[in-house]
Amino acid sequence: MNYVINGKEFRELLSADTIERAIGREAARIREHYANLDPVFVIVLKGAMFFAVDLIRAVAMPCTVEVLSAKSYGDAMESSGELRLSEISAVIRNRHVVVIEDIVDTGLTLKKILDQLKHQFPASVQVATLLSKPSVTKEQLELRYCCFEVGPEFLIGYGLDYAEQGRELKAVYALHRESAE
Ligand code: PRP
Repeated sequence: MNYVINGKEFRELLSADTIERAIGREAARIREHYANLDPVFVIVLKGAMFFAVDLIRAVAMPCTVEVLSAKSYGDAMESSGELRLSEISAVIRNRHVVVIEDIVDTGLTLKKILDQLKHQFPASVQVATLLSKPSVTKEQLELRYCCFEVGPEFLIGYGLDYAEQGRELKAVYALHRESAE
């Protein structure tokens, strides 16, 4: 089924089943790497919260959960370049941190988050992301746990929005065309 938002038509790219399998695979890797390390999962709001809940439950090990909000896109399809980042309240000094993102696009958001976290002296910082767009990313970033590498098309669903719509969808959809509606 296709979705139309603000006159734009989106077509399914990744089904809910495909997403669930990939999350299970990356969760197993995290569980193995962080056994007995009591990791801190830092969820980057708002988009990553859907992925984060499913991932953290699939990892199913003792952990701390923290949130951080980053906002750069507004209602547009491209980054505004202006990034608003909140502080995290958890003490991460000497802790093993996993930043959870829904998508790494240009990489500017994640780069800024990683730079900010480094100032708090964590024992380690790794990244888990549902989606990565290597052809668009401008920063050198290690995405240790990545469910899918995708092309440059604009995506919605499973936490990703267009003008705050589409986050609730269980699959991921790519922009297909301008709708005739
Ligand atoms: C999205 C996404 C990432 C960021 C990636 O957030 O959740 O945090 O953009 O883009 P980048 O790699 O080009 O920096 P957005 O600003 O849309 O906020 P949201 O998560 O609240 O939708």
